[in-house]
Formats: sequence, C-alpha cells, structure tokens
Amino acid sequence: DTTTGILQPDVAELADIARDHDAYTIMDCVTSLSGVEVQVDDWGVDAVYGSPQKCLSCTPGVTPLTVGDRAREKILGRETDPKSWYLDLAGVMEYWGDDPSYHHTPPTSSLYGLRESLRLVAEEGLEARWKRHRDVAGALVEGLEDLGLELFPDRDHWLPSLNTVRVPDGVDDAAVIDFLLSEYDIEIAGGLGELSGELWRIGCMGHSARHQNVAALLTGMKEALAAQEYDTSAIEA
Ligand SMILES: Cc1ncc(COP(=O)(O)O)c(C=O)c1O
Repeated sequence: DTTTGILQPDVAELADIARDHDAYTIMDCVTSLSGVEVQVDDWGVDAVYGSPQKCLSCTPGVTPLTVGDRAREKILGRETDPKSWYLDLAGVMEYWGDDPSYHHTPPTSSLYGLRESLRLVAEEGLEARWKRHRDVAGALVEGLEDLGLELFPDRDHWLPSLNTVRVPDGVDDAAVIDFLLSEYDIEIAGGLGELSGELWRIGCMGHSARHQNVAALLTGMKEALAAQEYDTSAIEA
C-alpha cells in the first residue's frame, strides 16, 4: 500500500477465505509489480492490476491487468450491462480474443514502452529484481535508523518499494521534503490523511532503486534534519 508503506503478507490466506465465502479477490499491485513478490496463480487471486510507472519504471498510461478463470466467468455472466464502456471488461476481453472486435484504439506507443520495460525485467530476472529492491531498500532503512528515525511498519509488513518512516517530534516534515527537493533534487512524500505530518514516504522503485540514490538521500536527510536542530546525537554516535 503506497499510502502507508505496508506490505500485505497474507494474500493467499485472504484469497482462500474469500473463496470459501464465494467472494472474489482483486489485488492492487501498483506499487509491488516487479519490485516485490507477486504470485497471482499460487496465491489464488481472482483479478490483479498494476501500473507501469512505479517498479517497472515505464511511462504511465496503460494498466497491466490479469483476470483468472473464476473472475472471467463472473464478468462474462453478468446480467446487467456495466455502466461504463471504458470499464467493460467483457468488451475488453473480446478485443483481446481470437476474433477481436473494436473496443478502443490501442495506445501503441505506451504498449511498446511497456514491452520494453518488461524486457528489461526479464533481462535482470524477476527474482533478482525483487532482491535488488530488498537489498537497496534494506540499506535505506538501515541508514535512516542510523539517523535515529523509526520505520513505520513492523518488519513483517515492510514494503521495500515504498518505505515509510516516522517524522520525529519537533521536526517539520514539509521543510525536510522541500530541502531534499531544492538541494538534492530528490522528491520524497509526506503522509496522507490521518498520517499527514506523521510520516515520510520514500520510494525505492524500479531503475531508481540503486545504492547511489540511497547514499544521496541519506546525506540530504542528515543535512535536512541538522538544519532543523533535530537531536543529532544518534547521527554522531
Ligand atoms: C497502490 C496504488 N493503487 C492505485 C494507484 C493509482 O494509480 P494511478 O495513479 O496509475 O491511477 C496508486 C497510485 O500511486 C497506488 O499507489
């Protein structure tokens, strides 16, 4: 989840429970696709969508989507027409099928872009890519903890592609965000909703999940905190 930086580790169990109750599961893997493990079939999820612009490091505009047999039957068997032509998955499926009929004009340049990003994933290897995200984000979290900051989720729910840390008391979260952007050209985000002012959200995604970016962020964060008279004893220890 991108708003809280929390990984859901129990997807297979949740999908089982849903199936036992004749319910369906839809998994949002916008922040996880190619950054952390996603096992659509093994976990028994009915429908999954992602995005090209996060861990795939591609341009936005098209949505990777997969629908399992159970969900497909449900979609094809619906008795009322969907309210939106755009979201009519039965129409979209027909368009993908062996005897395609028009549903929309394909965004061909976006599809070529997505294909290239997937080619790069295949070249690196999916498992190797998951490991890179874990290793680089692991170094990021370790460095932030050395600065005295605290990871928001517990370790079992840590999401390497989106790292959330608590804003220490007395520190202005927005001033740190502004400092990193103006001095280091690094954009991190603040918390949303109830967590506004409480968290920083630090992406570690796709091509940019690199140790040199972590090093730059940690240097900038240290300066930004020092500029706010944050107790630097943890930093100097
Ligand atoms: C987990 C999650 N789901 C959905 C979305 C929405 O994706 P989009 O902005 O491509 O519509 C986002 C966007 O950041 C997201 O992080």
